[in-house]
Amino acid sequence: MTGKHPIGLTIRNAVKVYPGTRALKNVNFDIRMGAVNVLVGENGAGKSTLMKVISGVETLTEGEIAVDGTPVQFRNKDDAVRAGIGIVFQELNLFPDLSVSENIFIGREPTRLGLHIDMRDQATRSRDILTRLEQDIDPDTPLGFLRLGQQQVVEIAKALAQDAKILILDEPTSALSAVEVEVLFRVIAELRSQGVGIVYISHRLEELIRIGDYITVLRDGEVTGTRSMDGVDVPWIVEAMIGGEAKDFAAPIAHQIGDEVFRAEDVALAKMGGGYSVDHVSFSANAGEILGIYGLMGAGRTELLECIIGRHPEAQGHYFIKGEELRSTSIADRISHGIALVPEDRKVDGLIQMMAIRENLTLSSLKEFTRFMHLSLSREAQRAAEFISRLTIKVASAENPVSSLSGGNQQKVAIGKALMTKPSVLLLDEPSRGIDVGAKAEIYRVMRELSAQGIGIVFATSEIEEAMALSDRIIVMADGRITGVFDKSTPVAQVVAAASPGTSSVEGSAA
Ligand SMILES: Nc1ncnc2c1ncn2[C@@H]1O[C@H](COP(=O)(O)OP(=O)(O)OP(=O)(O)O)[C@@H](O)[C@H]1O
Ligand SMILES: [Mg+2]
Repeated sequence: MTGKHPIGLTIRNAVKVYPGTRALKNVNFDIRMGAVNVLVGENGAGKSTLMKVISGVETLTEGEIAVDGTPVQFRNKDDAVRAGIGIVFQELNLFPDLSVSENIFIGREPTRLGLHIDMRDQATRSRDILTRLEQDIDPDTPLGFLRLGQQQVVEIAKALAQDAKILILDEPTSALSAVEVEVLFRVIAELRSQGVGIVYISHRLEELIRIGDYITVLRDGEVTGTRSMDGVDVPWIVEAMIGGEAKDFAAPIAHQIGDEVFRAEDVALAKMGGGYSVDHVSFSANAGEILGIYGLMGAGRTELLECIIGRHPEAQGHYFIKGEELRSTSIADRISHGIALVPEDRKVDGLIQMMAIRENLTLSSLKEFTRFMHLSLSREAQRAAEFISRLTIKVASAENPVSSLSGGNQQKVAIGKALMTKPSVLLLDEPSRGIDVGAKAEIYRVMRELSAQGIGIVFATSEIEEAMALSDRIIVMADGRITGVFDKSTPVAQVVAAASPGTSSVEGSAA
């Protein structure tokens, strides 16, 4: 086995202790060259920590790393880069105000005569890499103008520009469309055939089986399985990830669907350069209903939810809560009238990383804890503790910064923060993005419970299974328009067909 895929990097007896957490307990892991080494595990299992150690971002508490058999000690990320290790982090690390090419070459700008940054060279090389990723993105565009999926592609381009011989991809596909995923897989196959050792982290198990040569499963900071991918199936992975006791996926809770709780009429958001991101969309949601908005990347789902919460003051549209029209356009006012949004990118929009978990949870509902201008800290702490337990957020202490939590647990904090404002309608944008099966089940259960309590839930998703399994009704969007409204008994193929761009309206949909 080693003959075909020599071991390029090995880590032995790795221990990483954070204040309050043993993130890695005694981990052995090998990166084989010319192969895709898959790493999988539940939220908080230690995957990102292991990769941060390998890429010099964090230092080991105990243990050894060797590259090509030689022991190494990375003091920082530059040390690891010099050893040929590149990483695409789980959370984007980009600068919205800089251009795409500046982001790709940040810290490693090509210089002319070693003095000035060679902007033209930088742009050309960026264009080459983006072409390789089959992306039609102008390198001069400010990064902030790109959608999340495209930003993720830029993050990947940044790692490719480094010509790493070991490339770590920590959940690179969580915001990518199916087409973008295929392109990434082609690039990975190409790098693999050139002998690059790839580490690939994802929660999409089918994707892992398809792309991986070797698989390692982490649970609670320990390796629970490591083998060649031959013969591995989803039940094997799930068993290694969560142990014997498989978590049950939430079943619907029997309840009546009530009256209309929310209605949007004629929502339109113009696109820069013509056309509409949201093209005159109307829909309503009922109390106790789970309404799924299914669509591909760029269908306008995120923008629609952003319009509803008031993030685009220039958008047109009318909104009604229990039949009463909302007049104000401010986000704060919409929240106080019972609309809450959990955004797609929790790092940028949702949470303040440096602030305590408690403070993040109560950020949108401070009024509740304020009496005579004073914040009741004990009440605030009590409510935070209540939500931490209700959403089973895995924390050492509510006073730790949100940045100390794993991706999945951060998402739960974002949901808790929205719930604390006591919404009548809760908007969730890709609520299970980057979350493992166990945490997904918990979030689905929370969604079911909230709907049974009479909250109207509107959630956007690009996963068809999720849309079908959870929704009472499914709205399909393509090109900014609603192309179909279906009930849960509709055959899945019909729902998927409505999502392809260019669809005008689907026959037989109960719009
Ligand atoms: N900077 C930090 N300070 C304190 N604890 C941390 C820090 N970073 C991670 N942890 C803790 O270490 C454990 C492992 O986290 P890690 O981010 O490696 O998980 P993960 O497997 O990548 O999860 P996910 O799938 O959610 O991304 C978690 O319990 C997390 O809360
Ligand atoms: Mg992670």
